[in-house]
Amino acid sequence: MNIGIDKIGFFAPPYYVDMTKLAEARGVDPDKFTIGIGQDEMALAPVTQDAVTLAANAALQIIDEEDKEKIDLVLFGTESGIDHSKSAAVYVHNLLGLNPYARSVELKQACYSATAGIQMAKGHIALNPDSKVLVIGADIARYGLGTPGEATQGAGAVAMVISKDPKLLLLENDSTYFTNDIMDFWRPLYSENAYVDGKFSNEQYILFFNKVWEKYKERTGRTLADFAALCFHTPYTKMGWKALRTILEEGTEEVQEKLKANYQTSIRYNRRVGNIYTGSLYLSLLSLLEENDTIQAGEKIGLYSYGSGAVGEFFTGILQPDYKKYLHINRHEELFRSREEVSVEKYEEIFQNTLPSDGASIELESDNDPSPIYLSGIQDHKRIYVNRIR
Ligand code: COA
Repeated sequence: MNIGIDKIGFFAPPYYVDMTKLAEARGVDPDKFTIGIGQDEMALAPVTQDAVTLAANAALQIIDEEDKEKIDLVLFGTESGIDHSKSAAVYVHNLLGLNPYARSVELKQACYSATAGIQMAKGHIALNPDSKVLVIGADIARYGLGTPGEATQGAGAVAMVISKDPKLLLLENDSTYFTNDIMDFWRPLYSENAYVDGKFSNEQYILFFNKVWEKYKERTGRTLADFAALCFHTPYTKMGWKALRTILEEGTEEVQEKLKANYQTSIRYNRRVGNIYTGSLYLSLLSLLEENDTIQAGEKIGLYSYGSGAVGEFFTGILQPDYKKYLHINRHEELFRSREEVSVEKYEEIFQNTLPSDGASIELESDNDPSPIYLSGIQDHKRIYVNRIR
């Protein structure tokens, strides 16, 4: 059975910071952020957006009435969870008005978990060919003001419908994966911000990539020449390039040029959003699909997923006929166009305006957040969400 990504949607919060201005405010050469790290803009979530609202806003754009009936599994990958017990998937299921006869679960393994969701979704569709699965990766990446990780923050979500006979990308069945218990990035339960051994995480990202790529070649006999493009988990856009360049010489000059050019296309959206952890690889895939004009149906795309701690996976998909027709390019152009730039001072204010950590109730000001779905407050320890368009 052909199973894969049938639909893909994306959402970023309504604010962003210009990385050149952030560099200037931090006394850093702007080229470090825009070239050395490879980020132009950083999406910023107001307090009225959390992982649940980002996810629901992303999914809202792609699901229709038929999807609402057929989706019977919601798999939500996030490392910005809002509760130790109740899954973020249940809130999203309700906010979207999905068929109640569904399973809804949150998955965690740092930036890798949406990929786990996709692989589980494939198994579910294989057993239940007429159903559909909603897989979401949504996160707010926070390292802290003035930290080395600050330039690699971001916020947003990617939502995908996985089904049989997919319209966008048929997922093949020869992925390779690798797990090793390391401490390169983590966020203890008591902390709003992540702890990271930045240099070590870069090294491990590349090491895991090399391991799964070698295993993939060994298992399948394929080479770089089989691929139109490789997409990477993108904590910052230079990171994927650092991994790609370790294997580029395996290809002819022509293959190298093609993969380099398509890598640049695959990071255009990521350059403007920053790190969205679980959704980052899929934002890169979306950028490639929407922004390229050379890749044809039938061509193969490789995807590298990495989640600190750590799990890595390399898997592949085949582009489907007329895939461009089923994308929402205008909507995403509009999303970028409608975002508001905020000053570094305002960013710091928004960043520090977090929810009460002592269990107090709060009503949030929603006038500054035009998103269709937002968090309106907390009452009796319960988050209250609003869907403006339902
Ligand atoms: N012009 C152009 N490039 C410049 C520059 C300038 N003026 N100044 C520095 N750079 C380059 C550096 O050479 C370096 O490039 P390289 O990585 O190719 O060697 C890059 O900018 C980053 O500089 P560096 O000094 O290494 O940055 P840093 O120590 O301040 O932090 C991270 C970089 C990625 C370690 C940090 O942002 C971080 O910890 N991020 C979170 C963890 C993460 O995203 N990990 C990824 C795997 S999940």
